[in-house]
Amino acid sequence: MEQLVLDSRTRLLVLTGAGVSAESGVPTFRGMNGLWENHPVEAVASPEGFQADPALVWRFYSQRRTGAADVKPNPGHDALVRWEAHLGDRFLLATQNVDGLHARAGSQRVVDMHGNLFRTKCADCRREPFDDTSVHPSGTVPKCDSCGGRLRPDIVWFGEMLASADLERIGEFVSRKDGTRLVFLAAGTSGAVWPAAGLVDEVRTVGAETWLVNSESAANTERFQHFVQGLSGQVLPTLAKLV
Ligand code: APR
Ligand code: ZN
Repeated sequence: MEQLVLDSRTRLLVLTGAGVSAESGVPTFRGMNGLWENHPVEAVASPEGFQADPALVWRFYSQRRTGAADVKPNPGHDALVRWEAHLGDRFLLATQNVDGLHARAGSQRVVDMHGNLFRTKCADCRREPFDDTSVHPSGTVPKCDSCGGRLRPDIVWFGEMLASADLERIGEFVSRKDGTRLVFLAAGTSGAVWPAAGLVDEVRTVGAETWLVNSESAANTERFQHFVQGLSGQVLPTLAKLV
């Protein structure tokens, strides 16, 4: 297998998707063929879905919170923790996953691009999002104790914008001029959802070396210089040479 060299001149941006959590037992999105209990995922993961039936949305996320509470990080997550320890502030992990497994594995320099399953915010006021593991299986809609409005999972839903602070943090890392060379590695993502899917084009504008690790060819595979087909839990632990 080709080797990814991580040395003192490397600045590494990693993008992960649901495939990295698949070996921990967390179902991927496209693997669910877009359905949950015969509801299209968009009906329970969108502002329109929440507007129409907030109780159904809370039932969906309560089930995902329960499912994700006891899954464990896998060797793919652990490899990324080692890479971060080796590179320090020349490492950044942008994840589309909301399962919190990177943090649980020990990753610290993480951008939760699509939010976090275990955080809740208010749909009706601007109170700070807060950590929350509570579940509402009967589908009750918890109320905000600041404004009495409806609480919602702090997830970036279809059609919603990503947090500008997150995009700025990624953009700063990509455009940083410190004499290091940028390497971009995407793992376990179908390249189907923007803006994450466009990151490979963004990094190419600064001449980055690009890698894709995925169990099958993705929508944007041809944008990557290196494509390593395989399971992230098996590929990532031996892919990088830390010098
Ligand atoms: N190792 C590597 N790749 C894997 C593995 C694995 N063990 N298992 C699955 N894959 C690949 C699949 O081939 C697929 O290309 O991971 C990819 C998962 O793609 P998706 O299910 O589309 O997940 P993701 O790309 O993260 O979806 C992006 O879409 O639904 C929205 O917001 C949601 O964050 C999600 C976004
Ligand atoms: Zn409120």
